[in-house]
Amino acid sequence: MDAHDGFPTSRRTVLVGGMTSAAVATLPAQVDAEDRTGGSPPPKARISLTVNDRPRDLEVDTRTTLLDLLREHLRLTGTKKGCDHGQCGACTVLVNGMRINSCLSLAVQHGGDEVITIEGIGNPGKLHPMQAAFVKHDGYQCGYCTPGQICSAVGVMREIELGIPSHVQTDLGAKPEITATEMRERMSGNLCRCGAYSNILDAMTEVAGIKA
Ligand code: FES
Ligand code: FES
Repeated sequence: MDAHDGFPTSRRTVLVGGMTSAAVATLPAQVDAEDRTGGSPPPKARISLTVNDRPRDLEVDTRTTLLDLLREHLRLTGTKKGCDHGQCGACTVLVNGMRINSCLSLAVQHGGDEVITIEGIGNPGKLHPMQAAFVKHDGYQCGYCTPGQICSAVGVMREIELGIPSHVQTDLGAKPEITATEMRERMSGNLCRCGAYSNILDAMTEVAGIKA
């Protein structure tokens, strides 16, 4: 038996505490949600949006992220959950043509929006040029980050086309050039634990029609 800050501890109490926290961690998400609202059902809202050109209308817990809406409600599991904190880019999707981290956005903010996930970018029978280039240049290893990388890469091409500046541009008023430096900078929010960065850049430069 030992005592820290007035709380007696023993090997037994530590083990019991560990098992209790493990049990809490495995409770179904719904029980967890109800507990946090004092036993009352979580607030819900109806949302209508278009996902991969298909109109969707559903009722969700207002705390549901766009990422969870896609994965858990629509079963579009191509979009990955990496950090769930906006730091890895695995959850990148296109909303109204612009890329966003879907883990940082509540589903109810997207009423009327057009969302494109990796499933909507292309399919095995009809790959998007960016998907084909990733395959050709081995722009992946485990593939976990790849849907986010491809959605982001497609978004980057559009940003450059629209003249949206990046942090490496010296003249913010000038139309951005499609260079390897530009693309590296713009893709910096998409992490790859396998380190496929140089091959991803090769794929993007091929689609952009430039040399790395
Ligand atoms: Fe969204 Fe990592 S899961 S940024
Ligand atoms: Fe494995 Fe990027 S291919 S994390």
